[in-house]
Amino acid sequence: MRVGVPKETAEGERRVALTPNATSRLVSGGIEVVVESGAGDGSFFSDAEYQEAGASTAPSAFESVDLVVAVRKPDIVTSLAAGTALAAMIQPLVDHAAVRSLAEAGVTSFSMDTIPRIARAQSMDVLSSMASLAGYKAAIIAADALGKLFPMMMAASGTTPPAKGLVLGAGVAGLQAIATARRLGAVLSGYDVRPVVREQVESLGATFLEVELEEEAEDAGGYARELSEEARRKGQELVHSAVQEMDFVITTAAIPGRPAPKLIDAGMVRDMQPGAVIVDLAAESGGNCELTKPGETVVENGVTIVGPLNLPSSMPTHASQMYARNMLNFINHTTKDGDLIIDTEDEITKGCLITHGGDIVHEATAAAMKANGG
Ligand code: NAI
Repeated sequence: MRVGVPKETAEGERRVALTPNATSRLVSGGIEVVVESGAGDGSFFSDAEYQEAGASTAPSAFESVDLVVAVRKPDIVTSLAAGTALAAMIQPLVDHAAVRSLAEAGVTSFSMDTIPRIARAQSMDVLSSMASLAGYKAAIIAADALGKLFPMMMAASGTTPPAKGLVLGAGVAGLQAIATARRLGAVLSGYDVRPVVREQVESLGATFLEVELEEEAEDAGGYARELSEEARRKGQELVHSAVQEMDFVITTAAIPGRPAPKLIDAGMVRDMQPGAVIVDLAAESGGNCELTKPGETVVENGVTIVGPLNLPSSMPTHASQMYARNMLNFINHTTKDGDLIIDTEDEITKGCLITHGGDIVHEATAAAMKANGG
């Protein structure tokens, strides 16, 4: 099998799907790897390092390959030969046009961002790897944007109290944000609709804020469900009173395949302390704060609201290392004796196989496209 690693084409994308280290592991397993010249530049991996790892470098990584591995869906995917496979973060539940073009081109596509969050697939879970990096960076951004110190500081001039922060949504990104902000010395609270995360929040030294719900907030896959109006109202009241006390709020609440739940409205921002900071990690899917502008920093009533996009790309070396390790595990899972195996009975393959043989085979994607009018 021959694997192609293209240079990413999305604006500002600095990650690369395979590092030299992951490449050498594939090569020693009998897989041929061709890397587009300069593909690793943004992450500081040179062509020479890929060549030392056993890959060839070429002006294009799309020709005569069996599998293209990428971070994001490459622009020229429709010119791939029918039957070629692609593994990348395709966002099929949102990017229906991409799915349609992949099916029409006869590409067998695997979306790394729909790999199920089950124990067996943890080593391939790119969303968790990337969310963890984003959570870390969110805490750093909050510390940078806040006009106060995070830690308590004792000096001859007196003692400054530690900053108080709230993290909304205690999944992968939220827990990492709590851990990082705690390490920087802030005092943290965490809030999530899933009561099962209380223990994890508390184990990081943060206080857990909880709303008593009469409904199940978690689905069978361990993700949050959409809540009833009554549950949403209770959550909003809790968040409203909590944010007024905070120096910074990091929001990470997400429900797979749905727009981000709005947890902070304009009125709540008005009631926050001047100088407070909101870092909205959900900016890309609409934001958890009503006033967030994706990719921008805005100041409303003295509150700075940051809506960062693609934070993992701002840490390209480690982000690529983590992504490549996930990709390597995925390739090992999906190949046997150097050949791609498509086992649709396998839960991991079924969860991420989007198009195959010209058809859209991913049930959730097909249903979302149908609901959206085809
Ligand atoms: P996750 O699914 O692990 O965690 C989301 C958490 O939000 C869950 O614990 C869920 O129970 C909670 N939640 C859902 N609805 C809620 C509500 N109404 N109130 C309170 N909590 C609620 O997701 P993950 O992987 O931690 O990602 C979090 C967010 O960060 C996502 O929106 C993701 O797209 C975003 N992200 C942003 C990046 C960036 O560069 N801006 C990079 C990576 C992830």
